Amino acid sequence: MPPAVRDVLISRSYSRRFPPSFRLLTLAAFVAAGILLVLSPAVLFCQSSGTVDARAGGVADRSLDARVESILKQMTLEEKVGQLVQYSAGQPTGPGTGRSDYEDMIARGQIGSLFNVVDPHQINSYQHIAVEKSRLHIPLLFGLDVIHGFKTEFPIPLGLASTWDPSIVEKASRVAAMEASADGIRWTFSPMVDIARDARWGRMAEGAGEDTLLGSAMAAAYVKGYQGPRLDAPDSIAACAKHYVGYGAAEAGRDYNSTEISEHTLRQFYLPPFHAAVDAGAASVMSAFNSLNGVPSTANPFTLKQILRKEWGFRGLVVSDWDAVGELIPHGIAADGAAAARKAFLAGVDMDMVSSAYHDHLQHIVSSGQATQEELDEAVRHVLRVKLALGLFEHPFVDEAAAPKALFHPESLAVAQAAAERSFVLLKNDASPAGKPLLPFDGTLHKVAAVGPLGDDPSYPNGAPPAAGPRPALPAVLAQRLGEGNVSRFKGTGILDGTDADIAAAVQGAQKADLVILTLGEDPGMSGEAASRANLGLPGRQQELLEAIVHTGKPVVLVLFSGRPLTVPWAFEHVSAVIAAWFPGSAAAPALVRTLFGDANPSGRLVVSWPRSVGQEPLYYNALHTGRPPDDIDLTRPPSDIVTKYVSRYMDEQNSPQFPFGYGGSYTSFTYGATALSTRQLSADALNRSLKAEAGTAMTAEADVTNSGSRSGEEVVQLYIQLRGTSTAQPVRALKGFQRIALAPGEKRRVRFELKPEAFAIWNDHNQFAAEPAQLKIWISPDSAHGSPAEAEILP
Ligand code: BGC
Repeated sequence: MPPAVRDVLISRSYSRRFPPSFRLLTLAAFVAAGILLVLSPAVLFCQSSGTVDARAGGVADRSLDARVESILKQMTLEEKVGQLVQYSAGQPTGPGTGRSDYEDMIARGQIGSLFNVVDPHQINSYQHIAVEKSRLHIPLLFGLDVIHGFKTEFPIPLGLASTWDPSIVEKASRVAAMEASADGIRWTFSPMVDIARDARWGRMAEGAGEDTLLGSAMAAAYVKGYQGPRLDAPDSIAACAKHYVGYGAAEAGRDYNSTEISEHTLRQFYLPPFHAAVDAGAASVMSAFNSLNGVPSTANPFTLKQILRKEWGFRGLVVSDWDAVGELIPHGIAADGAAAARKAFLAGVDMDMVSSAYHDHLQHIVSSGQATQEELDEAVRHVLRVKLALGLFEHPFVDEAAAPKALFHPESLAVAQAAAERSFVLLKNDASPAGKPLLPFDGTLHKVAAVGPLGDDPSYPNGAPPAAGPRPALPAVLAQRLGEGNVSRFKGTGILDGTDADIAAAVQGAQKADLVILTLGEDPGMSGEAASRANLGLPGRQQELLEAIVHTGKPVVLVLFSGRPLTVPWAFEHVSAVIAAWFPGSAAAPALVRTLFGDANPSGRLVVSWPRSVGQEPLYYNALHTGRPPDDIDLTRPPSDIVTKYVSRYMDEQNSPQFPFGYGGSYTSFTYGATALSTRQLSADALNRSLKAEAGTAMTAEADVTNSGSRSGEEVVQLYIQLRGTSTAQPVRALKGFQRIALAPGEKRRVRFELKPEAFAIWNDHNQFAAEPAQLKIWISPDSAHGSPAEAEILP
């Protein structure tokens, strides 16, 4: 394999293992202006199909329909089925099919899409066969998991979401689209918009965390970035919202496991990010592996046909996940490949990724009348529409010479660095014995020891060769700052292994330094797909290394690299400064060093509740009220009376997380004034009328936020609501708006949120989305656990 191909494959597999993730116009305006970002849940919860983005050139653009029909008319049954067949023609990203005779199949019109091909020359050569040798010259669509960048790597999606900055996510996906499309890839299997409430599930790394509103904002931002202003621009790629739906709720956090999600929870929490992606114009949706309430998502007409097509008016393409059609057999709902193909097809899966079941059986299914010609035509329309919308018929080939020039633009690296800096969450920064916080470093710092398995290249910690392009290592960037002789490097342990001698050497090294930067965490393969963990502590001997280094008495800054929160209570008790850095991508080292030295002030906020222990999972801030909420839990004494015992709690752990959703520190401090509301009374009737009209602001909420410290900083101001008295139990708090603001020292800003009627509507006991009479609390606060609410009510 030529080295360039190998590099790209390595990069791709890194992406994969590492993954690594209103009204649209309102959102666009807010993002563009970089100001107020109040996400109206009109899109989040809207059930009409009237909100589908009909931008020219998108999949909703009806001007493409005539061309779709004219191609369709010329197609044979075999060619139609061919458009619905997809194979992986590069490094497999799941169990293989053993098939490799693609060239002949393409010439016969038996393949509609290939993926995992990353060499532009190879892409062109397959495309030449499709366009020149197949009877109807229909181009192939080339896909790939471009998840957090193509060659320029951005933070993993969990890190990108921690920026709470949809505009940087949009920029990052634009860069990814420009780089991938220059390589010939016009379809990414991203964004992953699954709500993730359980840190045991490794794919939490690939999404935007546990919240619906934030996840919806991120979903729309990814789609807009990938697809650009027009899908048929050569540097746009089709987005794919995955994994539809509920995949993140896998029982016990075990990947591919079953899910049981009530319609209430599905509609109110799990579906809205998909709806937001569809409304942002997403060209495709991927059906998931999991069974949902007993029906595998890849054979589920309720979610695929009723909700996605009928309620949301989706006109793009539904592709199955890898072999998910074939997996209907082990799921136990199909006796053989033919039954699997029939069930998936009739449920609404247009394209079969990899399993071959459509290739092998769909012609017979249609010719024997088990599915109609019209159903087949409709599925083919979805595929052709995406190909036409991408302009593939006009421009099927990629300019092989231009591809390398599109990679690693300085501006792209600048976006990667800005995203990484905003993604870091400062979890702890206590005052040292000298009375001031350890971070940021000041001018008195001379000698630093960089200790830990992730210290060389935190963006690529398992030692795999970096993709071509700038990717400076942490010790080198530290040395630029402090001088060569002042930075020493000790691995201490591996991620999973380690020796006494290496730990001892690191301790000796630490003793000679003024300060230790300890870089610990997970191997990238420990999060992402098929990477569920039952223990969320530091793997291998890293805890031992941590304790040995802390016992030297030297000041320690702990930087955690991981695709999920890690349960390290000992560290939070004994280390004075801790940063959650996730996996930061190409600009990891400069972004970290700028942060440690205070050139960048941390402003990332948690998008997942950080557990104290794994037994708390699933753990999420927007849990429903229970009938027996506990008061403060005192773990030092056994529950002594009925009031403290018979409540919803653990005997041996707090209910509260180590750090709450929305939490993150800064080198400055922010103080919040009282939340003021424009009205204390809303009317459910009026709200419901406005909901139907999709109009109006129901209430504004405001609070003063002041930078009360001595440095400039950015704060993510969050607005939460709580409803009581409704027909279905509602979350103890639910995010309904957020704004990222920059404040100079001493500066005060009145932050204002406009709440649309949708913010107060719920999925009710009549299976409808509506407002109901309720008591209302509203917080404008720095995270999901603090602040004092203002109170109001919704009258009938
Ligand atoms: C994953 C998808 C991915 C697909 C193609 C599957 O195993 O679940 O997220 O897009 O493979 O690589």
